[in-house]
Amino acid sequence: MILEVENLDKIYKSNGDSYHILKDINLKIKEGELTILKGVSGSGKSTLLSIISGMEKPTSGKVELLGEPIAKLPDIHISHFRASKIGMVFQHFNLIENISAIDNVMLPLVPLKIGLKEGREMALEALKLVNIEHLGKRDIKYLSGGEKQRVAIARAIVVKPKVLLCDEPTANLDLVNSKKFIELIERLNGNGLTALIATHDPIFDALSIKNKVVTISQGKIEKEELKNG
Ligand SMILES: Nc1ncnc2c1ncn2[C@@H]1O[C@H](COP(=O)(O)OP(=O)(O)OP(=O)(O)O)[C@@H](O)[C@H]1O
Ligand SMILES: [Mg+2]
Repeated sequence: MILEVENLDKIYKSNGDSYHILKDINLKIKEGELTILKGVSGSGKSTLLSIISGMEKPTSGKVELLGEPIAKLPDIHISHFRASKIGMVFQHFNLIENISAIDNVMLPLVPLKIGLKEGREMALEALKLVNIEHLGKRDIKYLSGGEKQRVAIARAIVVKPKVLLCDEPTANLDLVNSKKFIELIERLNGNGLTALIATHDPIFDALSIKNKVVTISQGKIEKEELKNG
């Protein structure tokens, strides 16, 4: 199993109130599976992804990703683990605004001690896959929303991760680039990539490959459906 989430709860406390955001989430993902996490705004998709990736801790429950007990690991260990095996596309990109697109894409290679020349080649290849290599030298702050989104996707795939976690990866893309993203995911999945994609973009309803759609509603998993399976 690539990912196992068991009895996961997340409660936020602020100003004396508590908010029960994720309720008894159970989710299993096997190697090579493509999973679409659907749900309306505020249903808990981003919160679940950030707990799975180890950016946030659950209130209770278990998360095992590639055999690692994510919720229990110290942060430093998680960042090393994430650097080499996990690709993340964040809803708000989390790019560094004052450096170029290519430098942003090269950042995940730093902890892997990959040389500068090889790193640049890997970054260019990733930028090419999302149709944005022509803007590699431009600083992020001058890019449009859709261009930033594509750089964020390039950064997520540059290490050729085993697992890709994406949060609304097509929210800022036009139809042409959304379709390209879908083709890319289908191709990478065909080569064995396991992916979990949080989205409310209906374009993912039209995937031509096997996938599982998990619907989350008010912090609870409501249903799981297999498509093209
Ligand atoms: N730190 C926090 N403190 C309190 N509530 C929070 C916190 N972070 C998130 N929430 C709440 O948790 C709920 C789920 O948020 P989340 O961002 O996971 O939703 P989402 O499904 O990703 O929505 P969207 O589709 O709009 O991105 C929201 O109601 C949000 O206000
Ligand atoms: Mg979200």
